[in-house]
Amino acid sequence: MNVSDLLKKLSKENRLAPEEYLYILDNIEKTDLDLLFSLARHARDATYGSKVFMRGLVEFSNYCERDCMYCGIRHSNSNADRYRLDTESIVSSCKTGRSLGYRTFVLQGGEDPTITDDWLISLVKRIKTEIPDCAITLSVGERSRESYKKLYDAGVDRYLLRHETANETLYNKLHPGMSFKNRMNCLFNLKDIGFQVGAGFMTGLPGQTNEDYVRDLVFLEEFRPHMVGIGPFIPHGDTPFKNAEGKGIDITLLLVALTRLILPDSLLPSTTALGSADPKGREKGLLAGANVVMPNITPTENKEKYILYEGKICTGDEASHCRGCIQGRIESTGMSVDMSVGHHKTII
Ligand code: 5AD
Ligand code: FES
Repeated sequence: MNVSDLLKKLSKENRLAPEEYLYILDNIEKTDLDLLFSLARHARDATYGSKVFMRGLVEFSNYCERDCMYCGIRHSNSNADRYRLDTESIVSSCKTGRSLGYRTFVLQGGEDPTITDDWLISLVKRIKTEIPDCAITLSVGERSRESYKKLYDAGVDRYLLRHETANETLYNKLHPGMSFKNRMNCLFNLKDIGFQVGAGFMTGLPGQTNEDYVRDLVFLEEFRPHMVGIGPFIPHGDTPFKNAEGKGIDITLLLVALTRLILPDSLLPSTTALGSADPKGREKGLLAGANVVMPNITPTENKEKYILYEGKICTGDEASHCRGCIQGRIESTGMSVDMSVGHHKTII
């Protein structure tokens, strides 16, 4: 077995045996990485062209009833400065986003128990009425199948719910009071209802191994999400993982590229965490096969409070500044900006 032959096989067949993924992760060297990234860019360009889809991200509540070990807005963090945007400010952020060219709005929040289906439904309907021809992505965690169905019927196009790790034991350790089985159930419900679904995971978590990444890849191969967010774990000082070490972005880049070869049609963000862990992280993500960026359009006074990890980029920047900044970064990789709604290829 040799790494470059396995990479070529993966790019042709879009799947490998678990032990073959493990062999790649354990043995890959610099020259194989160049080959991998070039195969990944080629796979991306063959479906969507050398273009980056832009999504405007509104972080509308940092209240959260969960206690994920790694996350800065976990319920037990009494140092977090909590806020919740009202409908007016969210609609107004989206309108600002629209004037900057964005046509997808990602509404993200913690698992805030005051966020009811009715409130979300009226928010979504307002955005869809006031901003024609836009897509809405929601990311508000685990909810019941009935809730997801109502949100879909109200006009939500996409839903992001990272699986975080496909190792059930690790998942359960990281998420006190939650269960891997329920996470999977939510993801299957979302897909079955008809959303474009985003799964995804972190890399470099305490205790995470190459065997765990193999499980992530096998899960992606089987579940076939439309979108996959992959980002490095970055410690936050007010969490139980405050002394854990960030492991850098190389493993994330490698997994982004492998994911591109497994799911050539997927929408893969070059994540904010990548950009926060490395000054050129987002550019490197694009060069590894990503094709989405999600600049933040949350009002500046709030976005500095949505701190999941330390060193998060753009927290002091206006939406208009990020819009120009990210375009320059995208173009520096030889790619171009695509401001269309940017649905997954299978959606008409
Ligand atoms: N480092 C990196 N990513 C994090 N997330 C939460 N906390 C951290 C952290 N400390 C990620 C999770 C979540 C997404 C919104 O942010 O994967 O799903
Ligand atoms: Fe926000 Fe560069 S994208 S400052």
